[in-house]
Amino acid sequence: VLVVRRRMRTTGRRARAEEVLRVLEERCATPIGKLREVADDMTAEMVAGLQAEGASKLKMLVSYVDNLPTGDEKGLFYALDLGGTNFRVLRVQLGGKEGRVLKQEYEEVSIPPHLMVGSSNELFDFIAAALAKFVASEGEDFHLPQGRHRELGFTFSFPVKQSSIASGILIKWTKGFCIDETVGEDVVAELTKAMERQGLDMKVAALVNDTIGTLAGGRYDDSDVIAAVILGTGTNAAYVERAQAIPKLNVVPKSGEMVINMEWGNFWSPHLPMTDYDKALDFDSLNPGEQIYEKLISGMYLGEILRRVLLRMAKEASLFGDIVPSKLEIPFVLRTPHMSAMHHDASPDLKVVGTKLKEVLGIPNTSWKTRKLVVNVCDVIAKRGARIAAAGIYGILKKLGRDTAPTDTASKRRTVIAMDGGLYEHYAIFSKWLQSTLRELLGEEASASVVVKLANDGSGIGAALLAASHSQYLKLQES
Ligand code: GLC
Repeated sequence: VLVVRRRMRTTGRRARAEEVLRVLEERCATPIGKLREVADDMTAEMVAGLQAEGASKLKMLVSYVDNLPTGDEKGLFYALDLGGTNFRVLRVQLGGKEGRVLKQEYEEVSIPPHLMVGSSNELFDFIAAALAKFVASEGEDFHLPQGRHRELGFTFSFPVKQSSIASGILIKWTKGFCIDETVGEDVVAELTKAMERQGLDMKVAALVNDTIGTLAGGRYDDSDVIAAVILGTGTNAAYVERAQAIPKLNVVPKSGEMVINMEWGNFWSPHLPMTDYDKALDFDSLNPGEQIYEKLISGMYLGEILRRVLLRMAKEASLFGDIVPSKLEIPFVLRTPHMSAMHHDASPDLKVVGTKLKEVLGIPNTSWKTRKLVVNVCDVIAKRGARIAAAGIYGILKKLGRDTAPTDTASKRRTVIAMDGGLYEHYAIFSKWLQSTLRELLGEEASASVVVKLANDGSGIGAALLAASHSQYLKLQES
């Protein structure tokens, strides 16, 4: 009798948890018609954001990059990439047309979490110190002409209002960084002061967002690259726009083009599928009301959404037993890499899911059915993120008139989107969905000319290339 009763209780619990899943699925649904509406809203917001400052949630920031790398870039350049949980320093010896990248070296340093919410000086000192150490290890096979400063491409992956290629003030922090005193400050000046405190003689030649770096690095490898998308801790996109289509532009680029950092993480549309979990996540976040699109898509948040759904299942359906596992109550304990590992578990008994639930959340002895339910939740969350991200890309293609097949049958026009970020790179199910959704939106014919290309660490190289093409030293020489 006891066994039968226990079994009935378990079945009842699971049915309640299945119901939570069913509601989640319903709210996260992204039928193609809805995605088209999201894409249209993206296109419309792009137009609005280009019109005037503050006219849209899409900031459509002017990058002051009006020329992308050509392959002629030459010399020794450094890059520093700050924007996620790690930052990177890189040096590259560029050889011009023939040599291209002659040699490169990089180092990755993780940022202690307390520095992400501490003081401005502490953060920039930490970065400058790591950079100084890296510069000190420069070997003889890197060559800097006599009397010349080392120059740096600074990838700073937050919304920055630039006033030139090498200056700009921080509009706001995103992705878990929160240091009030930096907001409104010129981040190049902050870094320069910190480098001086380290006794490091280096000049920032270009300040770029990671999307801009990726676009530049992507273009260096493939001349058909017209846009870049980051799907990592955060998400964002940049693309090449005609100067004429930017009414708010206050400079006249010789090339007639300007690269725009969309800051699409802050995109919002009434057609985005939002749930109570998302609203609560936003409310509890460091930046409530901001970066809503990013909070539905990017690596910083997917695992946290999953945690919130599992917590509800634990509370309302006792999915993991009578007691709610205490670790499940801790915000951000469940990271997107954990989620990805569970989601990709191909073992018949879902062993990886069992191990993660145990190790990360302290939930031992889960049944196959419980594990399967967890995988299904991963499925819903990742699928929604990938599909609305694809809709965003489709929105950009529409804006550029590249959402249809090239009309001239002889035309070999390709449209390449350079992609970077750990989410896209490591979460295979997510990237597959993104690609298949983009195909679905474009249709067979148009999608034949559109390529999404992984530009692994294009951003670092891209920043160094932009430093090279905006080198103060080279400019002085020319004049
Ligand atoms: C966040 C930042 C943005 C960056 C993106 C990807 O959305 O605001 O500047 O490009 O993350 O790193």
